[in-house]
Amino acid sequence: MITKAIIPAGGLGTRFLPATKTTPKEMLPLLEKPAIQYIVEEGLKSNLKTFVVVTGKNKSVIEDHFDPYPELEHYLASRKKNDLLDGVNKIINSANFIYLRQKEPLGLGHAIWSVKHVVGKEHIAVFLPDDIIVSATPCMAQLMQIAIQEKCNVVAVQEVPIETVQSYGVIGVRKQFSPNLFQVKELVEKPRPVDAPSNLAIVGRYVLSPNIFQSLDEMKLGIGGEIQLTDAIQNLLLSGEKVFAYKIQGTRYDIGTPMGLLKANLDLALRNSKYSEEMLEYLTYLDREMLVMQGKATTMGKPRSMIQL
Ligand code: G1P
Repeated sequence: MITKAIIPAGGLGTRFLPATKTTPKEMLPLLEKPAIQYIVEEGLKSNLKTFVVVTGKNKSVIEDHFDPYPELEHYLASRKKNDLLDGVNKIINSANFIYLRQKEPLGLGHAIWSVKHVVGKEHIAVFLPDDIIVSATPCMAQLMQIAIQEKCNVVAVQEVPIETVQSYGVIGVRKQFSPNLFQVKELVEKPRPVDAPSNLAIVGRYVLSPNIFQSLDEMKLGIGGEIQLTDAIQNLLLSGEKVFAYKIQGTRYDIGTPMGLLKANLDLALRNSKYSEEMLEYLTYLDREMLVMQGKATTMGKPRSMIQL
């Protein structure tokens, strides 16, 4: 059984400065919820119960977010607005949280390694909170099903343009079982396009055997002077463990960048009946305005929702 999730949330969020100088990137909003709440919701929908969050300086608001707030609840109840905290309160009642501080900023592998005394001898689910995946079936549930069925490690992957592989861990394929399922031959962190074994890039969801901690123990600093999780998974592979890769069914957004967060917000807004109509109307207006600016159309007037502002 897989019950525990690790969320490494100690990163400095430098790609989103200055917003992330005092606000953790995991707390940036996607519609009305902070990004990390989507991660925990994906975990709960995948039947995970315990979330081990690796934090660092300036990250204590993450703990506050998943904590009861009696004064606010009382205030909202007195105004019959209890539903405003409903989502996060459901999480507080159904999930266990463990917070650990990463002692040194030595990279993703080091962050995972630092929880080794907290998780037992079971497989673990790892969520990188920069990666928000919008999908019909929760992405982690897709991975866990394969891990249980094949008794193996599983990494999520997606195809990316070959010129961008240097931003990712990349897998080489030993065998393809179906359009979306591969047995992994090798894993390389941030290869140059000429050295990349494929254009299948690792996305931030993993199911890993507990031997990953032993493997991380043996790791030296990898690319970027950091302990790389990808290298430790490669080490597992060399020790004889099976690693599968699953091409995710859904859209992945890197919300660690302004453009990624913006696109994720638009996607989620268009899927949400509370926002979709107004959002679509506004996007249509902007699209038309762009044509007007380029002299290719005449103005149509503002959408109703804007006139009311
Ligand atoms: C990390 C992993 C990399 C993976 C990526 C996905 O890199 O090391 O293998 O492809 O996340 O988001 P980072 O983005 O932290 O540099």
